[in-house]
Amino acid sequence: MLDTLNLDTIDPNSRLPENEPMRQFVFMAKCREILREKEQRLGRPLKASLQAFGCQMSANDVQTLTGIAKQIGFEEADSEEADLVLYNTCTVRENANERIYGRLGHLHSLKKKNPDMVIAISGCMMQEETEIETIKKVYPFVDLVFGTHNVYKFAELLYTVWTTGKMVVDVWKDSPLIVENLPVQRKYPFKTGVNISFGCDNFCTYCIVPYVRGREKSRTPESILEEIRRHADSGAVEIMLLGQNVNSYGKGLETPCSFPELLRRVEEIDGIERIRFMTSHPKDLSDELIQVMKESDKIARHLHLPMQSGSTEILKKMNRRYTKEQYLELAGKVRREIPDMAITTDIIVGFPGETEEDFEDTMDVVRQVRFEGAFTFIYSRRTGTPAAKWEQVPQQVIQPRFDRLLKEVQTIAAEKCALGTGKVEKVLVESLDSHDEKMLSGRLSNNMMVHFPGPSCLIGQMVPVHITEAHGFYYIGEMWKGR
Ligand code: 5AD
Ligand code: SF4
Repeated sequence: MLDTLNLDTIDPNSRLPENEPMRQFVFMAKCREILREKEQRLGRPLKASLQAFGCQMSANDVQTLTGIAKQIGFEEADSEEADLVLYNTCTVRENANERIYGRLGHLHSLKKKNPDMVIAISGCMMQEETEIETIKKVYPFVDLVFGTHNVYKFAELLYTVWTTGKMVVDVWKDSPLIVENLPVQRKYPFKTGVNISFGCDNFCTYCIVPYVRGREKSRTPESILEEIRRHADSGAVEIMLLGQNVNSYGKGLETPCSFPELLRRVEEIDGIERIRFMTSHPKDLSDELIQVMKESDKIARHLHLPMQSGSTEILKKMNRRYTKEQYLELAGKVRREIPDMAITTDIIVGFPGETEEDFEDTMDVVRQVRFEGAFTFIYSRRTGTPAAKWEQVPQQVIQPRFDRLLKEVQTIAAEKCALGTGKVEKVLVESLDSHDEKMLSGRLSNNMMVHFPGPSCLIGQMVPVHITEAHGFYYIGEMWKGR
């Protein structure tokens, strides 16, 4: 299939098949024909720059979009001076949107120098009608706008842009369709993300994701396992299973399969040595899942368990469906059952109605659980969500709370990090160290970064490393030769 897809065997003028992705393969062949004409006219290859903003799922969509662009014949550009620039956007917080608009002005000046340039904006931000209107009115030089449900149609949409010369906007509210077997260009040959479910049904009252990503739908275990086997056959040793709420995986499948069951089946795949997953909702984290993690040699010792707030009152207003005590109980259970499991979290400061006492509850959970790491966010008011209509906490109250929380989180994380020295652990080597080319950088099972001296031929391999120094949020080590 993908690795064997040969577009040259597809006649670009053949009748369009009804089924996906076959229909898209014909559009890829059509685009390739146009691209070749353009290359001849310009006397140079066409280059593309595709960038992901936001979460792992956005990064994963960009791997698919890059796979399609590569099939069409684009070379990878090392800057935005390219013939195709695509931003796959995030909209979870307001400042993500502002960042995109800030960059569009720069793209406009590049397009004036290269009229052949195609500017495409996709992803979560484009699922909002007001943002599409803004693009149409303020940024009419954008050529293509699409959303999260029709990533698979990229070749067809690009074909329409190239053949009409007009702005193409194609955004769907939701879609039951999951198109399998699209080309994928992995950023790293040795590790990749694999979507297991899309969308979210939880409707936390601050969060825009359920509105932009639509209802939760799961891929079948068979298609997930087949994709992972393919990745393993082509050299992947680590995979990250992705979903807005992986713990509720399997809802709506014809043949039921729970997330722990899926993990057990993924574990059996030869070649895969490390399994990560993201994101776990505390309300759905079962004892069975803890058991599967405990018994597994492959599941990484890292659990990302967003708590959002430590106050039961605020958690209720957030519609998180657990209390402070339940969160503490759950984190405690994980710590007891799997003592070497790193627990990280997401925390929002300044949710509407948050009092000093509520905030102290958050600080209390942070001190009790002692997270290995935490992403801290200032509450961002997202139009269309229930909490946007509630009375907001003033910025001058939020900022000092945020600063206090960040300090506490960082102090604890550094203390936890220090406990790792002296151990010998497996590191998946990812790259040369960006500061020192004689050093390699990689990650431990618990997701901590380690830098150690070694040759570049180890990139992509699991190497035992003796951890010698802790530096707050990363380690220095040396290769372990065994004694
Ligand atoms: N404001 C601030 N943070 C938010 N998140 C989601 N929505 C908002 C918002 N409106 C955070 C949550 C979530 C993470 C991905 O982003 O903590 O877990
Ligand atoms: Fe947003 Fe809550 Fe769904 Fe996470 S679980 S994506 S925070 S609505």
